[in-house]
Amino acid sequence: MRPLSQLWVLSKGTGRQPRKGTRSLPKHSAAAAPLPSLYNPKWMLSSQLRRANRADLPFLEEMLFEAAFWRPSLPRPLPAVGLRRPDLAKLLFGWGRRGDTGLVAISQSAHSLGAAWYRFWSEGDHSYGFVSEEIPELAIGVRGEARGRGVGSLLLRALLAEARSQGIAQVSLSVEVENPARRLYERMGFLRIGGEGNAWTMLAHTSRGNV
Ligand SMILES: CC(C)(COP(=O)(O)OP(=O)(O)OC[C@H]1O[C@@H](n2cnc3c(N)ncnc32)[C@H](O)[C@@H]1OP(=O)(O)O)[C@@H](O)C(=O)NCCC(=O)NCCS
Repeated sequence: MRPLSQLWVLSKGTGRQPRKGTRSLPKHSAAAAPLPSLYNPKWMLSSQLRRANRADLPFLEEMLFEAAFWRPSLPRPLPAVGLRRPDLAKLLFGWGRRGDTGLVAISQSAHSLGAAWYRFWSEGDHSYGFVSEEIPELAIGVRGEARGRGVGSLLLRALLAEARSQGIAQVSLSVEVENPARRLYERMGFLRIGGEGNAWTMLAHTSRGNV
């Protein structure tokens, strides 16, 4: 695997420590704690991540489109058309609401390479990987040309660490069993806890596994 040379470390530090028994919701401000250092010689790369804000919505939508229409064998609609599907349109609607947390991986030239984020949902309004109102649901996408070089692993690892730093114990997601992303999730400690047909609902404990 070729190192992705245009990635480098942004910041070091351990992040905030949550108060016991509370779930502090994220701040979308420059005052938020620094992201943990993510350099790992095993991956032969280092990377820059930054927190997603409201202005990242178009890029998150682009990544949502990648996640929803991931099958290379199937024709894809135009992004604007595909994202209008009601089950997809709601997934990023009102991005920036309380609890929304995301990370964007960027290249040295500040080009967005990929993003991972999570949101809380309710019993009455949720997506496919919903488990409970206390467990946010995660989504991830990396631009086609940046895949297979560790960007997705880095985003996932950092986002799970971010969840842990916010006092969030578990994170869920939904993945189609044939999606190669499933292997990545399993490596990151996600386990199947349910689902229907070929769609698996998976759950990771932020204090365990590969986080
Ligand atoms: C899944 C995804 C985010 C992984 O990002 P990445 O930067 O390629 O991941 P890494 O390089 O850190 O890790 C490689 C792993 O990603 C997965 N992966 C690699 N290429 C992939 C691709 N084209 N499509 C889906 N998953 C892929 C595999 O699990 C791979 O591990 P493997 O080599 O053991 O099979 C990225 O491939 C992607 O955006 N895929 C399309 C969107 C998607 O399917 N999102 C998840 C929906 S549930």
